[in-house]
Amino acid sequence: MGDKETSRVLPLVGRQDCVEILAGVVHRVRQGRFAVVEVSGEPGIGKSRVLAEAVRLARDAGLVVHVGRATQFEREVPLATFRDSFRQVRIGGSDVDRFGVYSAVRRHLECVAGGAALVLDDLQWADQASVELVEFLIRHPPEAPVLVVVAFRGSRPPVRVVDAITRAGEGATRLHLDPLTAADVRELLPSVGADRRDLLMRACRGNPLYLQALIRLTDARLADLVRESDGDEPVSVDEFTRRILRTIIVDVAALDEQVQRVAYAAAVVGDHAAIGLVAHVADLPESTVVKALDQLCWAGLGDMDGAWFCYPHPLIRAAAHELAGPAWRSQAHARAARYLREHDGPLHLVAHHVARSAQYGDDLAASTLVQAGRSVVCQAPGTAVRWLGTALRVLSTTGPMREQRPMVMLQYARALGLSGDLSRSWEVLQELLCDGSPVRAEAAAFGMVIARFLGDLDTASALVHAELPRAQQDPAAEGKLRVQLAALAALGEQAAEAMDHARRAVDLLGGRRPALASAARSLEAWGAVYAGHIARARTAARDAARLLNTVSDVTLRPHVELLGPLAWAEMRLGDLTAATEHLERAHAVVEQARHSSALPYLMVVHAALETRLGRVDSALRLAEQAGLLADQMGSLEMRAMADAVRIRPLLWTSGPAAALAAADVLASGARPRSRTWWRIGQLNLAIAHTVAADVRPGLTFLTDPDVAWPADPTTEVIRQVAIAKALARTDAVAEAWRAAATAEAVAAAACLDYERGLSWYAKAFVAARAGSLDQATTLATQAATVFAATKAPVEEAQAHHLAGVTHARRGDHGRAEESFTRATTGHLACGAHWLASTVDLDRQRYARATGETPAGVLTRREREIADLVVTGLSNQEIATRLFLSRRTVESHLSHIFPKLNVRTRSALVHRLGKPA
Ligand SMILES: Nc1ncnc2c1ncn2[C@@H]1O[C@H](COP(=O)(O)OP(=O)(O)OP(=O)(O)O)[C@@H](O)[C@H]1O
Ligand SMILES: [Mg+2]
Repeated sequence: MGDKETSRVLPLVGRQDCVEILAGVVHRVRQGRFAVVEVSGEPGIGKSRVLAEAVRLARDAGLVVHVGRATQFEREVPLATFRDSFRQVRIGGSDVDRFGVYSAVRRHLECVAGGAALVLDDLQWADQASVELVEFLIRHPPEAPVLVVVAFRGSRPPVRVVDAITRAGEGATRLHLDPLTAADVRELLPSVGADRRDLLMRACRGNPLYLQALIRLTDARLADLVRESDGDEPVSVDEFTRRILRTIIVDVAALDEQVQRVAYAAAVVGDHAAIGLVAHVADLPESTVVKALDQLCWAGLGDMDGAWFCYPHPLIRAAAHELAGPAWRSQAHARAARYLREHDGPLHLVAHHVARSAQYGDDLAASTLVQAGRSVVCQAPGTAVRWLGTALRVLSTTGPMREQRPMVMLQYARALGLSGDLSRSWEVLQELLCDGSPVRAEAAAFGMVIARFLGDLDTASALVHAELPRAQQDPAAEGKLRVQLAALAALGEQAAEAMDHARRAVDLLGGRRPALASAARSLEAWGAVYAGHIARARTAARDAARLLNTVSDVTLRPHVELLGPLAWAEMRLGDLTAATEHLERAHAVVEQARHSSALPYLMVVHAALETRLGRVDSALRLAEQAGLLADQMGSLEMRAMADAVRIRPLLWTSGPAAALAAADVLASGARPRSRTWWRIGQLNLAIAHTVAADVRPGLTFLTDPDVAWPADPTTEVIRQVAIAKALARTDAVAEAWRAAATAEAVAAAACLDYERGLSWYAKAFVAARAGSLDQATTLATQAATVFAATKAPVEEAQAHHLAGVTHARRGDHGRAEESFTRATTGHLACGAHWLASTVDLDRQRYARATGETPAGVLTRREREIADLVVTGLSNQEIATRLFLSRRTVESHLSHIFPKLNVRTRSALVHRLGKPA
């Protein structure tokens, strides 16, 4: 030992291929695109080293590089990995919600001129919030030149991040680092004799870190180690690591006793350990500590960064930490906490040490943990769970803090709920719901939210009913509970009950509390739509909107969720402007509040509205984000709702197979448990079936005599239209016509224009099928006009598509071509790529029948080039491959784009389908 040689940085060997791949990725980013790289491998294999190369390449390319690193023993410090990188973004503080932070980080990255790189090491130790942030960035990549590089130990992959990377497509690269080869080691240690080199290679198994650690051992000890690992069964990486660690530990233990104590204290304190703190934790004078740290550095077991001490490698810190022993460590953490408290250290750091040293009955520790837990509950609920959980364990049952317990439990339940552990949250709440509990009302209110996320509407309703008798003296309190009951009835598709409770709430409130009154009127509107009372629904919705205009955002905050049913009712009533306005207001309020469990629900409603408006990409994005939030909250119910609204836009972009596959969870019929959302999901599923190869499953559901349908005219029209289309496809023309006519009658009675358009479209579809082409043409054109007027561009394009087919079949090719073009343009403008491709098919089919070559058909050469574009090749690469000049390729492309009605490469790729 004492050979300073060991801490020298060795030249990089054996990673040429990695460096080249990284250079390629950086190049991609420089061209304006997003990329993510995963680096994995066993401890000490060289991940951090490869990351250093990535940092160098990124800097050389002019990217602004942020580097972050997670540490083994500070996992609960939220977003610690990012804290230094994004000081500008408000990370920390109590009222900051985590998704707000993630979006802010993404916006920040998008604004960096010239591009940015985020390089994160040791993700296996990152806290939940940091991992979520990385996952968020990969699933919702910044629309800018941004590079994300992450490294983690292969044995402990951050599953969600890996999953996101797997789905990230062409922008993702995965590097797994293998051990160095004998040739690499020879290159590294040219002056070491062949025998000793062989011994070293066998002892370290190509692991560069172990190589560096073992190089100080004598040949005899190396031989021992080799014998130990060669002798018996092949050992796991973990066991192997432990053996090597033991060897390093022996080194540390050989130091004198004071140096040892300092080494342990530094391991407890963590990276960038300040000397004063280390001295306090080691319980030694500062002068002794300075000398000891010097010795550690000299032995290659540490580095000074200014006045701070760091371990050169996390494995060495881990070794010292382990050797310190649990009892000493706990006392050391207690001393660290005391010191930091006296020196006004950051609360989360104090809590970190307190959590590792607190004993039962230590009320000071408990109150620190409660305070710290509360401060991070929104941004890092997982951490809050650990801190509040520890607080509950140490809080004495007899001392003055005794009365705090129910409050702490309530906060603990909240943190559990937010961290996605709904069932444990529910268990904790149960204890607080008994009579005489000082926080019963709060627990009931939060229990309602949890029950709804679980999809357990009966339980939620039982909770409200239990509160009802207590509220009967206070009209405002009862009004509030009635609103909750109306909301639950709405979810359960009980239209009459929803209207009833809502009406009673309006009466009880009698002009007071306009935000709540507006919520009540919204639910009344919703109930009226579902009960088929369209006029009453309009009045109630208008009244709700009027009341909303009188309340401030702050007043609205607790009721913001109820803008969902209002927007839903307005959408059904055809008032899309009001629906959009109200959802935008809801998002603004949630944004200000910086946290709201209402967010996924509002996003689901918004996704449905965007679908109705033909903004397909936006709809998919919203549905996907809502699903992601639902997963993070652990809510299967909300996930199923998000899946339910995702089916239609997915059908339009990717076709029935993709839509049906994505609706897997719904196919079982068990979710959502909310009847209303179950219906929405099943109806969308049936619609996907009506255009799939086999229409029967959809038809069976839609006509099942055992399934009761609500009186809601919009649902009924959509259902009859789907039945008409499915039956027409099976050539049951007469029945199909009857269904379409029913749809028309229902729409007319309710005076709903969009629904009228749907029914005409259905009639046109059936007429075309029956060969009544003139009638079909007239109806399709009529439908297109109505859809244009009711802002339904996808349906409008579908109507043009149908008109194109009927024109073509009547032999009017000029008008057919015109209609097809309008259909294609309309679909592409909405992002409905699959629908656009079905237009192409028909256009080609009828063109072939008449021998004409429509614009959508490519020549053989053009097809060849288009296919290569789809595989991701650049123009130059295509030119090389086909022995053409780049100019020629560009000129072909200038014909291909208008023929396919696309303007960009990515649209072309989308249009022709992704490469296998
Ligand atoms: N290819 C290489 N050539 C030379 N030295 C290397 C190489 N790879 C790693 N090293 C050296 O080996 C040591 C361990 O590497 P590194 O810290 O990158 O491992 P790691 O995989 O990040 O380990 P951990 O899982 O513990 O984070 C470092 O001192 C590093 O400089
Ligand atoms: Mg590392």
